[in-house]
Order: sequence, then structure tokens, then C-alpha cells
Amino acid sequence: MAIERTLALIKPDAMARKLEGKILDQILERGFRVVAMKKIKLDKYEAGCFYAVHRKTSFYDDLTTFMSSDEMIALVLEKENAITAWRDALGATDPAHAAEGTIRHTWGTAKNRNICHGSDCPDSAAYEIGFFFSGIEITRSNPEVSQ
Ligand code: CMP
Repeated sequence: MAIERTLALIKPDAMARKLEGKILDQILERGFRVVAMKKIKLDKYEAGCFYAVHRKTSFYDDLTTFMSSDEMIALVLEKENAITAWRDALGATDPAHAAEGTIRHTWGTAKNRNICHGSDCPDSAAYEIGFFFSGIEITRSNPEVSQ
């Protein structure tokens, strides 16, 4: 399996409930390396760009209003098979259907208040990491470059 990177967001509902410490514990306990991390508040336009793929859905307005309602934490996570591993850690989009022990099962309250985001495929991960982080913020440990 290849070492991959994925984009994780700790969403406003988690921040409002002061769950960021517990979620960071989960990230580390599950063996992810945190490549980069920042606290950020999007405006509605920026949230709309991030979720542009959902722009024709009935929930787009609620989603972008919610995702621009407060600060979030954005992280680049790295491990083998990171995209699937992080989505497995989260559980199903709807917390009511998420498996026991997953982050959304433990803390999520509704499909539109589901605590964290994770990229769903390599193309999304590349777009989403680039949305939040510049190259210099995610360049680490290049063995071919001497310091
Ligand atoms: P996330 O993983 O951030 O990706 C898109 C988000 O849209 C998703 O989590 C949910 O919070 C939200 N979402 C997806 N489907 C629905 C739906 N049917 N109704 C409301 N919100 C949804």
C-alpha cells in the first residue's frame, strides 16, 4: 500500500462542542502523521468553492452556511492508504448509519452536522489539500534535499 495524504476538517459543530482535542487524539491513535494543521474560518463563497461538487444539491445552501459559520481546523494527514483509512475512521456520512467506534458514530448528530470531513479519492485529496495549504506548508522530509 502506498503512503498517501488526505485532507481532514474538524467542522464547526465539533469546534463549538470543544471536541478538537478528542479528535486529534483519534487521529494520532489511529497512526496518522499530521503533516500540516491550521485553524481557519471560511466565508460562504469560499465554502461554496470547497463544496462546488455539491452546488446543485438541495443541501448546498445549508452546507455552505454551516461550513462558514465558525472556525474549523484543517489538517493534512499522512499514512498508508490515508484516504480510505480516514474515511473508515469517520464512518458513514450520516452518523445514524456510522459503525460503532467511528468518529461520526461517537460524536455526530446528523448528516449535516457530522463533525469531520475527509477527502473521498486521490483527485479530491489533491484539490482539497491545495485549497487549504500552500506548497511550503506541506513540504516535509525530502531526503534528496540537504538542509
Ligand atoms: P462531508 O464529508 O463534509 O461532505 C459533504 C457534506 O455534505 C457531508 O459531509 C455532509 O455533512 C453533507 N451532506 C451530504 N449529504 C447530505 C444530505 N443528504 N443532507 C444534508 N447534508 C448532506
